[in-house]
Amino acid sequence: MNILLIGSGGREHALAWAIANSPLTDNLFAAPGNPGIAEEAEVVRLDPTDHGAVVDFCRNMEIDLVVIGPEAPLVEGLADDLAAAGIKAFGPGKAASRLEGSKGFTKDLCARANIPTAAYRRFSDAASARDYAKAKGAPIVVKADGLAAGKGVTVASTLEEALQAIDDCFSGEFGAAGAEVVVEECLSGEEASFFAICDGRTALALTTAQDHKRAFDGDEGPNTGGMGAYSPAPVMSDALVEQTMREIIEPTVRTMAADGAPFKGILYAGLMITDEGPKLIEYNIRFGDPECQVLMMRLKDDIVALMLGAIDGTLDKMSARWHSDAALTVVMAAKGYPGTYEKGSEIKGLDEAGLDDDVEIFHAGTKRDGDRILANGGRVLNVTAIGKTVSEARDRAYAAIGKIDWPEGFCRSDIGWRAIERERQG
Ligand code: AMP
Ligand code: GLY
Repeated sequence: MNILLIGSGGREHALAWAIANSPLTDNLFAAPGNPGIAEEAEVVRLDPTDHGAVVDFCRNMEIDLVVIGPEAPLVEGLADDLAAAGIKAFGPGKAASRLEGSKGFTKDLCARANIPTAAYRRFSDAASARDYAKAKGAPIVVKADGLAAGKGVTVASTLEEALQAIDDCFSGEFGAAGAEVVVEECLSGEEASFFAICDGRTALALTTAQDHKRAFDGDEGPNTGGMGAYSPAPVMSDALVEQTMREIIEPTVRTMAADGAPFKGILYAGLMITDEGPKLIEYNIRFGDPECQVLMMRLKDDIVALMLGAIDGTLDKMSARWHSDAALTVVMAAKGYPGTYEKGSEIKGLDEAGLDDDVEIFHAGTKRDGDRILANGGRVLNVTAIGKTVSEARDRAYAAIGKIDWPEGFCRSDIGWRAIERERQG
């Protein structure tokens, strides 16, 4: 098959690596791509926001499958426009993408389908949102309704912080994404990411992972897109996976289908494992970044076959099997991220760092300049390893990082700490 991959992050490098390994793949193209993706695919000049240009490219190059990595093109309806042109696309259409594109939509769906989630109210004006927050008191969570690049959520430990967050949203801090606000109960417990692949009717459980959202060691500092991840998440026992499928994923897929917006693609549930069981924090409609990197390292089955199963509606006849080994990824970011950072510094030592067969270095924000690799974004590299345990994978990943010479970068030194503590306690 000829396949086109849309995206340019570490998630898409990991997808390119897995897709290139599939026996179903003849030619892999990618746009916009990055220097790591260019090792696996032919990077083409194509603007993914220009849907007409993507359709034309697919027709000219006889593309059989388009894999859409990030949420923005999905929320903007790229999968619908490709499907309308008769081109298979992996990822949900615009209507089903509301599960990520509108937090209020998802909360209302949870209420209708009796899916466990934090108690909430939706608001379209600051005064009523403020009154509700005052009545409920802190801690309380304030969320801009729409996509805000991971920055639209405030977990407020004081009422003042919550009121400030409400004012920020309505004053246009997040643009249109903040025109509506969800104010919700603050949940406590351990977080886990759960992934399922769906074909509109059937949801096939994939596996679990844990992200590290805060920028600095000890889960301190500002929220980021994710500073590292591992899979599987030990907190997700088989019983919890089964409960999550029954109480959260399956009712979602049933309700979306009944509403005429069947969900096809990756459903990524951000969960809080509370004393009362798993509760849905939010949905994403695509693989996590950097969670995808650890998932692809552990997947035994063919990712392309699974994606085709999701498009063709045949997941009920398929399975997804995983290596029992753990995988862990450490994000190397430019100093200053998630705030302001410099671009253009040189990264050396990548070839040597990648020599270990159990290590893969996925590129995110990098740029090639002749033989040199330069930093070109906030999250720059994902140093990913497998091992019998999370501790072993962690040791391999940090050994590889030790060989990378990039003074302008930083990473957390404690990725995997929760799982490693569990492993220590036996
Ligand atoms: P989101 O962008 O929705 O993933 O939220 C970012 C982070 O905020 C989540 O990963 C949680 O750590 C936290 N969060 C979101 N909603 C809640 C909630 N209701 N209770 C506690 N923490 C939350
Ligand atoms: N790592 C979090 C996300 O991809 O949304």
